[in-house]
Amino acid sequence: MQGETRAHYDRLADSYDENWAYSPEFIGWMTGCILDRLDPAPGDRVADVGCGTGLYARGLAERAGRVVCVDPSAKMLKQLPTGDSYLPVEASAEQLASGEVPLPYDRFDTVLVKEAIHHVDDRRAVLRGLADLLADGGRLLVVMLPTRIEYPLFGEAIAMFERLQPDPEDIAAYLRDAGLRVGLDYASFPLSFSKARYLTMVRNRYMSLLSCFDDEQIEAGIAEIDKRYPGERLSFPDRFAFVRGVRS
Ligand SMILES: C[S@@+](CC[C@H](N)C(=O)[O-])C[C@H]1O[C@@H](n2cnc3c(N)ncnc32)[C@H](O)[C@@H]1O
Repeated sequence: MQGETRAHYDRLADSYDENWAYSPEFIGWMTGCILDRLDPAPGDRVADVGCGTGLYARGLAERAGRVVCVDPSAKMLKQLPTGDSYLPVEASAEQLASGEVPLPYDRFDTVLVKEAIHHVDDRRAVLRGLADLLADGGRLLVVMLPTRIEYPLFGEAIAMFERLQPDPEDIAAYLRDAGLRVGLDYASFPLSFSKARYLTMVRNRYMSLLSCFDDEQIEAGIAEIDKRYPGERLSFPDRFAFVRGVRS
């Protein structure tokens, strides 16, 4: 993991869940999207790669019993729910894919990579390595933002996002090249919160891309958002791509 990415998540770890706490409905909706596509069964060998604080490992653990929670940020892993259902592994997707990390299983039935693939440089190689970890019938789900977002961010942040965000179509192609049967679909959730709350999240740099901007730029960005969106509430769709590969 890049140094600045680690620093970003180390800094964010304590407040990460608070950023989402305003919307248990969102977490419930996203958990449903993940479970519908991965369909974990009791006893499945499950990995959540780039699990963060385990917001979505919870739903997987409820279905499967145990989840191997992989993340390179020790501080994010520290926020995992306690209990035997969560097996923390401090490692990057790259380390997992190259086989250099000891794991409790040789093969997995279910692997989730949610909003972490944009942190990986060599996505083709890493996704091949993760696909190779799948057992027969195993499912790998990459959840990511699309190449365009409708977030009420400031102009420079949107432009940077569009420059950096990988294309889900490319992710689908990598998984296909790795020998998986692949499907790609999109779904969105209507978010709505007070402008004050959202501006605080921007100030907290709730998206890793916001850590590319210094304090002065963030404050200027917040003033821009405030001006561009009059009114007390901000409402916008949060749209996600779901790239699902199956080893058959
Ligand atoms: C936006 S958070 C998503 C966390 C969690 N999956 C969720 O949806 O709540 C991105 C996570 O990816 C992790 N990460 C960063 N670089 C990574 C890499 N190279 N391999 C795996 N995870 C990485 C970060 O530490 C962070 O926990």
